[in-house]
Amino acid sequence: MIHVSNLHLTIGGRPLLQGMDLHVESGSVWGIIGPPGGGKSLFVKTLCGLFRPDRGSIIIDGTEIVGLSEPSMVPVRRKIGMLFQNNALFDFMRVWENVAFPLARLRPELSQDTLRERSLMRLQEVGLLGSEDKWPAELSGGMKKRVGIARATMTDAPLVIYDEPTAGLDPVTTSKIYDLLEKIRQETGATVLAISSDIEGLSTFVKNMMLIHEGRFLFQGPLSELTDCGDPLVHQFIRGLEEGPL
Ligand SMILES: Nc1ncnc2c1ncn2[C@@H]1O[C@H](COP(=O)(O)OP(=O)(O)OP(=O)(O)O)[C@@H](O)[C@H]1O
Ligand SMILES: [Mg+2]
Repeated sequence: MIHVSNLHLTIGGRPLLQGMDLHVESGSVWGIIGPPGGGKSLFVKTLCGLFRPDRGSIIIDGTEIVGLSEPSMVPVRRKIGMLFQNNALFDFMRVWENVAFPLARLRPELSQDTLRERSLMRLQEVGLLGSEDKWPAELSGGMKKRVGIARATMTDAPLVIYDEPTAGLDPVTTSKIYDLLEKIRQETGATVLAISSDIEGLSTFVKNMMLIHEGRFLFQGPLSELTDCGDPLVHQFIRGLEEGPL
């Protein structure tokens, strides 16, 4: 589903992604962890073609996206569902319209009634039925996250990326969100990347992990190998130790 090689991205003279290589099998589920500012969000946004790398290759489901024109990028983006770290809901659209938006783009022939019906079905799954006619500004942080998740999964995209799906949520809501992500994953068979700083919660959902620091992967592989990884920075990070190279 994803093949990245020698990816470099510089912004304003700062090298932010510094030679990243990655191979993600179709249907696999990955967590992405790492210290703040390490490049996790930037990396996934680059995978969606939102940043243009200086060098390297990104192949999404067989299509090389580096150097692709904006119009040619559209069919690739349609294969990707994305929850942004700040949710990025459209503040001028009601909740149901936000959720229906990607489906309306993908299937322009669908009527407003059908779109609303589909949107309400997804909102029910994320526990937000009754909020469909609210504006994003009327929602709590956790509600906005769930609207973002509903929108990201609305088209049953083969690749879904969640940037911090549980940030700022209490432990009960967090475990409910992971149950929901797993349910949606089982329904669609999607390949999933999920960024989170809650390693424990994330580990209940993903089978593989990658750790990004200063625009590089320090680890990528099965979750079970993460704890045995010899890298001192990885060791310090996953155990939350004060002493170490970080
Ligand atoms: N649009 C941008 N323009 C310039 N620099 C950026 C931009 N977006 C991110 N950066 C820089 O890239 C680096 C990585 O940022 P990124 O948002 O990817 O971090 P992150 O790993 O997601 O951190 P966090 O865990 O806090 O969300 C930071 O130094 C940040 O300042
Ligand atoms: Mg981030």
